[in-house]
Amino acid sequence: MKNPQRYTVTAALIYANGPIHIGHLAGCYIPADIYVRYLRACGQDVVFVSGTDEHGVPITIKAKKEGISPQEVVDKYYKIIKESFADFGISFDVYSRTSNPIHHQTSQEFFTTLYQKGHFVEQTTEQYYDETANQFLADRYIVGTCPVCGNPNAYGDQCEKCGSTLSPTELKEPLRSTLSGATPVMRPTKNWYLPLDTMQPQIEAYVSAHPEWKTNVAGQCLSWLKEGLKPRAMTRDLEWGIEVPLPDAAGKVLYVWFDAPIGYISMTKEWAAQTNKDWQPYWRDENTKLVHFIGKDNIVFHCIIFPAMLMNEGSYILADNVPANEFMNLEDDKISTSRNWAVWLHEYLVEFPDKQDVLRYALTANMPETKDNNFTWKDFQTKNNSELVAIYGNFVNRALVLTHKFCGGQVPPIGQLTDIDRAALDALAVFPARIGDAIAQYHFREALASMMDLARLGNKYLADTQPWHAIKESQARVDTIMHVALQITANLAVLSAPFLPFTAQKLQKMLGLPAVPWHEAGGSLVETHQPIEQGGLLFEKIEDATIQAQIDKLQAAKRQNELETKKIPPLRPVVQFDDFAKLDLRVGTVVAAERLPKSDKLLKFLIDDGFEKRTILSGIAKHYTPEEMVGKQVTFVANLAPRKIMGQESNGMILMAEDRDGSLALVQPNKSVWDGGQVS
Ligand code: 2FM
Ligand code: ZN
Repeated sequence: MKNPQRYTVTAALIYANGPIHIGHLAGCYIPADIYVRYLRACGQDVVFVSGTDEHGVPITIKAKKEGISPQEVVDKYYKIIKESFADFGISFDVYSRTSNPIHHQTSQEFFTTLYQKGHFVEQTTEQYYDETANQFLADRYIVGTCPVCGNPNAYGDQCEKCGSTLSPTELKEPLRSTLSGATPVMRPTKNWYLPLDTMQPQIEAYVSAHPEWKTNVAGQCLSWLKEGLKPRAMTRDLEWGIEVPLPDAAGKVLYVWFDAPIGYISMTKEWAAQTNKDWQPYWRDENTKLVHFIGKDNIVFHCIIFPAMLMNEGSYILADNVPANEFMNLEDDKISTSRNWAVWLHEYLVEFPDKQDVLRYALTANMPETKDNNFTWKDFQTKNNSELVAIYGNFVNRALVLTHKFCGGQVPPIGQLTDIDRAALDALAVFPARIGDAIAQYHFREALASMMDLARLGNKYLADTQPWHAIKESQARVDTIMHVALQITANLAVLSAPFLPFTAQKLQKMLGLPAVPWHEAGGSLVETHQPIEQGGLLFEKIEDATIQAQIDKLQAAKRQNELETKKIPPLRPVVQFDDFAKLDLRVGTVVAAERLPKSDKLLKFLIDDGFEKRTILSGIAKHYTPEEMVGKQVTFVANLAPRKIMGQESNGMILMAEDRDGSLALVQPNKSVWDGGQVS
């Protein structure tokens, strides 16, 4: 190829706060990898950049949860994430981290340039502050009541119960800080804002210059623009992150969404240094095509905020395309890390060793290209058994076995062609462009389906020509058939490589095929007399029991989660000591107990409270018999207003603790105390 097109392809810098799952692969990394492998096969000049995003509140929250430092969190997950991507053949040219010094330096320089050019607006606003922890509170660190569903433990950025996106000012009071439990107070603080409001016309022009963007991407951009862009702070009052390179910004760091996309640039610099290349044309030459692969939750940052930063900086190109995918669900439910509703890549590889391509195939076939889609284990099994085994694997296996059986294990010479042969060869010639064009337009499902059509063509060709019958008539005829079949096989090896890199590599080895450029596919790829290895099956059937084990595993995770969320109820809002002190909790002894007629829940107790014998009704009949209660000391609320329950007056409430399985246990002093003793 004379003039390769230069491409800078990026894949989202995932937060280094947990391992990765199938949703990440389907949403971003598999499409990016297919695209890049295709471009490389076309001889284009490509750099494929990604890494981990190691700043921001998601990291500090994880650190708090795991009881380790943010640095330990990112070190741990960088390693795990990098390994998973490598295991699944995601062919990054560089996989780095935003904690590297080159990234800190590049981000600070970028910030300084915008600052010096006067592109920031300094603004002092009132932000929530925790006076006990002595720090400003990111939205995620503030908890209050959800205005939508009433969940008393909604976060300042989102309610995890109903999924609403929130801001801390929308939460209903009382608010509390998750750091110390204190009530947040408002404090003024200065930050540096990107004035997106004044940049609206430029951004609109940029977005409308790309009518070719996917509808799901364009749709989100238009809705943000319609709403009207608002200034956004590019600095934050946090400790974890990249220091703001200004003298009056102590205790402030760059907004994580400011530094993360700059990571694409700093990682390209790292790659260039490692490979002795110049990074600049990949980011500064107008002829370079910049393509960002991301999931749908990142659209606004890549289509509006990062381009605005780049426009203001002035020396960089803007993205040519942002082919974001939607989300992949799992068994009809949202993938969730906290609920452990996910297929984790590191676990998959233990349970399905060497089956990376099966997952890649199943995820590509169902890729959520324009709307959310669903992964099910049953469908995974069908994709494997009915497509990879029955179509691709079957064709390749037949071609190789028949070559050994009838042609001495070599590519036989081609002879006289029949109409069937010519039709097959003509059909074959169309595939490279058909598959390639679909990939170039980010239609990965369509591209994959076409690739399988090539395998179908091979199967049909063998079924139509029947070499096992033809051998009775003519060796020359069989040689021609197997020659054509092997050319189809070799083309399949080349054209399936972006999707099924592990399988394609095995197949290329069996055929003794060197790396073939995409534009050479469509015709003869293997030479006559080339020895062919028989090499074994490329795919094997997955049994029902294996699939059922995966479904059972998910169901177990669901049950466990239900148990945990049900039995550890969220904390109620903080109360002041004065409110607590209003309760009069006492110890007394049960002197008599009986069942309440017509109720299978209620027991009626007579309790000696030190002054007198009082009646208390309690719904514990399923947990205690009247007989075993008599003589026991209990703790009860002594000043609860009398209540009538089933026609009987109850003067107090016995305290019980609920166990994980829903059973109840009495709350008792751990040594006998006098009746009427106060609990405080
Ligand atoms: O959603 C995420 O995981 C972000 N860390 C993605 C950042 S992409 C880019 F800007 F670096
Ligand atoms: Zn809610």
